Amino acid sequence: MTLISNDPVQAPVFIGAVAAPYVFVTDESPADFEAREDLLDAAFGAARFDKTVERLREGRFPAPGLALVAKDAGELVGTLRLWHIRAGDVPALLLGPLAVDKAYRSRGLGRRLMGEALFRAMSAGHGAILLVGDAPYYEPFGFARRHTLGLSLPGPVDEARFLGLELDDGALKGARGVVTPAGARDLPVHRGVFELRRAA
Ligand SMILES: CC(C)(COP(=O)(O)OP(=O)(O)OC[C@H]1O[C@@H](n2cnc3c(N)ncnc32)[C@H](O)[C@@H]1OP(=O)(O)O)[C@@H](O)C(=O)NCCC(=O)NCCS
Repeated sequence: MTLISNDPVQAPVFIGAVAAPYVFVTDESPADFEAREDLLDAAFGAARFDKTVERLREGRFPAPGLALVAKDAGELVGTLRLWHIRAGDVPALLLGPLAVDKAYRSRGLGRRLMGEALFRAMSAGHGAILLVGDAPYYEPFGFARRHTLGLSLPGPVDEARFLGLELDDGALKGARGVVTPAGARDLPVHRGVFELRRAA
């Protein structure tokens, strides 16, 4: 698989008729917390916490180097995270959530976040990525249902949306069983802040 990294000479993103050349993809930082939560609330609503995949993310840190944001002049306009999981006995990553601010959609920003994330995951030696999402969006990146047929998630899910990508050919071939979280546990103080914000 050939992937193109986040080009340091950023391709312009067009907002209306005006080029916005400063939209760039970079690492998420702790200072992005509020803006990222706001973006996710706007994109998915409160129901995002009820999703089965949330059970694989809650109380965990995202995979190191695989929490990305898109920013326009310092303002957060996109987010994508990947998480350590085990796909049965196979170490893998879970992708999501992916969200782009409404005003910036359909200008290739989602693709840029995905491209950077896949490039970084492959460069770091990860073999496989799972996600639950819309196949028409993710299939062009190589995700397919056939890679997850032997796997199940820890809760209800629309199986047609449960997709996998092999960064290493055959990485998911023997993957059988339940997908479980495998990321480093988040600090209790962080979890407390997160819970407070959710409750607000
Ligand atoms: C999905 C999302 C991240 C795409 O971001 P984006 O920056 O608009 O993505 P891109 O510009 O790279 O791609 C846009 C294309 O993807 C298509 N697309 C967007 N969401 C899609 C979806 N759920 N299913 C299929 N196609 C989709 C758009 O129609 C557009 O097609 P076009 O180029 O022919 O106009 C953004 O629409 C979003 O934040 N949606 C709400 C959150 C969400 O649903 N995230 C998970 C997706 S399963």
